[in-house]
Amino acid sequence: MNKPLIIALSKGRILDDTLPLLAAADIHPLEDLKKSRKLIFDTNHDHIKLIVIRATDVPTYVEYGAADMGISGKDVLMEHGAREMVEVLDLKIACCRLMTAKVKGVPRTTGRLKVASKFVNIARQYYYEQGQQVDIIKLYGGMELAPILGLAHEIVDIVDTGNTLKANGMIPDQLIADISSRLVVSRSAMKQKLSTIQPIIDRFKAALAHNN
Ligand code: ATP
Ligand code: PRP
Repeated sequence: MNKPLIIALSKGRILDDTLPLLAAADIHPLEDLKKSRKLIFDTNHDHIKLIVIRATDVPTYVEYGAADMGISGKDVLMEHGAREMVEVLDLKIACCRLMTAKVKGVPRTTGRLKVASKFVNIARQYYYEQGQQVDIIKLYGGMELAPILGLAHEIVDIVDTGNTLKANGMIPDQLIADISSRLVVSRSAMKQKLSTIQPIIDRFKAALAHNN
């Protein structure tokens, strides 16, 4: 029997927006993805399986070809580098912005700028392009706390409503990128399994057209 096609889904926020899109694409998991402790799921298509993993792990599975396709936030793809994969569709879900943010009413330091972020590669590249020398401090969440406690002067983080920044006395500053989730395909699957993958891409395209 041929190996099944594996689609890697990001759990958390993106999964909430992915479920209706999967249903509209007529890909139905045989179990509730949000309730089960399983990580790999059968679907109504014998040859399609879904895996549900941490959002930041999706590009790794796709890069190495362990998953043939994936759904991943553009922020995660930018940070990872998205090697060995092709971005085939903007799914227009989990939309937000990647921004720098600073403390309201505090002028920029004349000394060396300290920036906290979980997006260290994106932040390094962004400030480099601005000609700004910075020390980047890696955090895994709750970035807004860093300027309050003097760990950093600025942060690079996701902004949606702006409520988290506001609640912590900060304001959005520079836009780095508009973010949404993307359908990605591993380069090896693109070469070796295109006849199986193309109909799935087409299903997602139709689902998107139906939604808009
Ligand atoms: P993990 O739990 O694996 O550390 P995470 O906390 O970043 O990941 P989520 O909060 O579920 O996971 O976010 C996943 C993705 O959803 C982000 O990479 C981004 O693309 C998008 N996202 C994050 N925050 C928001 C938001 N407030 N509004 C809309 N989309 C968001
Ligand atoms: C994300 C992001 C911001 C917040 C932005 O945090 O890191 O903190 O959402 O959304 P808003 O502009 O609508 O307030 P998340 O809830 O994922 O928590 P985290 O800090 O653990 O990443």
